[in-house]
Amino acid sequence: MFKARDLGIDIEEIDRRLADNWSLPTRFYWDPKIFDLEMEAIFARNWLYFGSVHQVARPGDVAVRRMGRLPIVVTRDRSGTLRAFLNICRHRGYTVVEGNKTNCLRLACRYHGWSYHLDGTLAHAPDAAGEAGFCRNELGLATVAIEQWGPALFVNPDAEAGPIASFWGRGYARSEAEGLAPDAEGFELVREVIYDVETNWKLWYDNGAECYHCALIHGESFANAYQSDAGTYETETGPNFSFNMYHGKPREGANAGPASDNPVLQAFPGFVGFRDGDILHHAGMVPVAPDRTCHVTHYYARPGTDPDYVKAWCDLWDQTYREDNVVTADQHRNLAAAQQPWNRYVASREFGAQHISREIWRHCKAALQA
Ligand code: FES
Ligand SMILES: [Fe+2]
Repeated sequence: MFKARDLGIDIEEIDRRLADNWSLPTRFYWDPKIFDLEMEAIFARNWLYFGSVHQVARPGDVAVRRMGRLPIVVTRDRSGTLRAFLNICRHRGYTVVEGNKTNCLRLACRYHGWSYHLDGTLAHAPDAAGEAGFCRNELGLATVAIEQWGPALFVNPDAEAGPIASFWGRGYARSEAEGLAPDAEGFELVREVIYDVETNWKLWYDNGAECYHCALIHGESFANAYQSDAGTYETETGPNFSFNMYHGKPREGANAGPASDNPVLQAFPGFVGFRDGDILHHAGMVPVAPDRTCHVTHYYARPGTDPDYVKAWCDLWDQTYREDNVVTADQHRNLAAAQQPWNRYVASREFGAQHISREIWRHCKAALQA
């Protein structure tokens, strides 16, 4: 239970500042107490991007990922059903599965040898069967909700969570219409890049939700491929999503390729999906600490797409992300000096970032007032 007063939060002042085009208090970008609030208010109860379904394609495949504070294991059981669990042994809390596996029959914890079926139930606990009150049925792995959307897998620590469609609402329907969730079989996974960014997750998010910086920071990458000046792209926002439509321009230099439209979904809290013709990109961010953010990116292409084009496209985004990582790490260092209490947005160019800040605050405020 978090109380605004204990955290030094003035709810009315934040409401007023956000309405007047100011940011969240910059303390929110580095204070561990605020980070704890966000973990509970946002990341313990929303759909988080886990990764690609191609990484658990066959029965017996097992994939693991530490998602911020949460260690998650996803299994495909012998009947083909996908399941997700906390990767925490019910004995004394060691990590049950320490790396991705194929052709797996059981999940075995290497500390004392407890093992679990792929449906999470406890299979065997050495020497425990005769213990008074030892009940195998109540010692299965904790279940986490899982949902597939195109080739993307999402997990939700709240096992009772409603479907993604109801969280993203209009953003879900629009993204499906724009081809951001095609049949997984029609696209192959061509690249995975994982970034460990030295910034707070909200700075990462602000950056991705505005293109005010694109011409200056991404002149050789994103802004070389897409129009990003004021008035050249369209933004739609709603609860738990924002959607941008960028339009291509003839590309020059290393990232040369055909001009096309680029629909971009930002789904709260940290999923990004793009589509550019025969190429698809899904990515997700999870906070690791107030000053560290993990950003997992996957690139797909239709089989037969020109490999040079695919490489140029993946390189373009990799370069764009690396440029963003430098900028947001620098911002974080400065804001953590605690000298500048509020940042000021430019509403006409940073509406998307403002929308994200307001969404973050909506979720935090609901937890503070619960
Ligand atoms: S912690 Fe897993 S078997 Fe002991
Ligand atoms: Fe950027």
